[in-house]
Amino acid sequence: MRQGVRPAVVLCGPMGSGKSAVGRRVGNVLGVDVLDTDHEIEERAGRTIAEIFADDGEPAFRALERDVVVESLCAHDGVLSLGGGAVLDADTRRALAAYRGEGGVVVFLDVSARQAMLRIGTDARRPMLHADGETPRQRWIRIAAERRGVYEEVASHIVATDRGTPGAVARRVLDLLPQR
Ligand code: S3P
Repeated sequence: MRQGVRPAVVLCGPMGSGKSAVGRRVGNVLGVDVLDTDHEIEERAGRTIAEIFADDGEPAFRALERDVVVESLCAHDGVLSLGGGAVLDADTRRALAAYRGEGGVVVFLDVSARQAMLRIGTDARRPMLHADGETPRQRWIRIAAERRGVYEEVASHIVATDRGTPGAVARRVLDLLPQR
């Protein structure tokens, strides 16, 4: 782990807020790598997130996610894109607060239920949206409402993503970064 290395920016927000698409564009403009915690977890585990949830349960997934986020905050110098539920973990929140305390930028990508569901569509790879007794849309609305305060707590900035292309949203994120 390289000491003193910090991400250029951290993106958080609910499923369908555009973290991956916006993160890629921000990374392209800055000329840095993008680390998507979902991808990193799948690489390390050699399984998909849906498989980890099904085989080991959500708590095991959250433990892997916390390790990836806390490590990446000290070792990744590009864009760090967090899975929607990463902010639920107290260690992750403490690590994000420390990163912000050192001048780090954490952006909450905000999105309406309507727009998020349009982006997610029929993508069945998100286990959090599938449970008995609720539609994916109902679950998204409930989960997003439960987490909203946490996103606001960890973020230094909120960027609305309903309007504009991922490139336009990326430019709004880039405007928040100190000159490099
Ligand atoms: C989750 C969001 C997903 C992924 C996992 C759980 C959540 O990431 O980490 O399915 O709890 O909101 P995205 O936000 O990138 O879809």
